[in-house]
Amino acid sequence: MARVRMVRWTWAVLAGLCALATCEVQQQCPQRSEISPCTCQVKKNGLDVLCEMTDQQHISDAMAGLKGKPLVIFYLKLRHNNLKKLPGFVFLGLDIRHLTIHNSSLSVVEEASLTSIGKMLTQLDVSQNSLTQVPSAAIRNLHHLLILNMNHNKISSLHSRAFQGLDTLEILTLYENKINNIDAEAFVGLGKAIKLLPDKTNLVGVA
Ligand SMILES: *[C@@H]1O[C@H](CO)[C@@H](O)[C@H](O)[C@H]1NC(C)=O
Repeated sequence: MARVRMVRWTWAVLAGLCALATCEVQQQCPQRSEISPCTCQVKKNGLDVLCEMTDQQHISDAMAGLKGKPLVIFYLKLRHNNLKKLPGFVFLGLDIRHLTIHNSSLSVVEEASLTSIGKMLTQLDVSQNSLTQVPSAAIRNLHHLLILNMNHNKISSLHSRAFQGLDTLEILTLYENKINNIDAEAFVGLGKAIKLLPDKTNLVGVA
């Protein structure tokens, strides 16, 4: 009994030291079948997970296959999919650092879809989709985000405080949209972020 307790103690202390020293846990991809049709590779800083030419249900199922493990998903790339809506809680329990949703017909980003990864996410790329406005409610909690790429969407206006909450953002890019109206308070809360907008954007009235 005493010996078991001792062993447990030793492990607890070691795990604690490990956490303090942020010693790296060797990352491992899940079984292929657990995340199919997505694929996974181990990279230096974590996993690189790719899902292409599939749909929302398959992506949700694959995300479930990544849950419950101490994984760092350094890149999650969802490309060329039929993903009209990013559902709430789809990434709950995952540690995602760079998220790309590209050319996937995305038009709705549910409010609770990104909240759970707000403490880890540093890059969000939702380029080449069908967004008609900035999904402010969904991105409001991304307090570590450095880069937001919304190029090549169908955004025609930037509403008041569209990017509020993105207090760490450094680069915002909105090329290839049809922006013709920008609220005077559109960028309130964005700090010193560099804003890259389409050439023809009418910036009159923007502070
Ligand atoms: C976008 O995705 C579709 C599949 O949904 C694919 O057929 C098409 O080639 C992709 N377009 C580009 C420019 O990659």
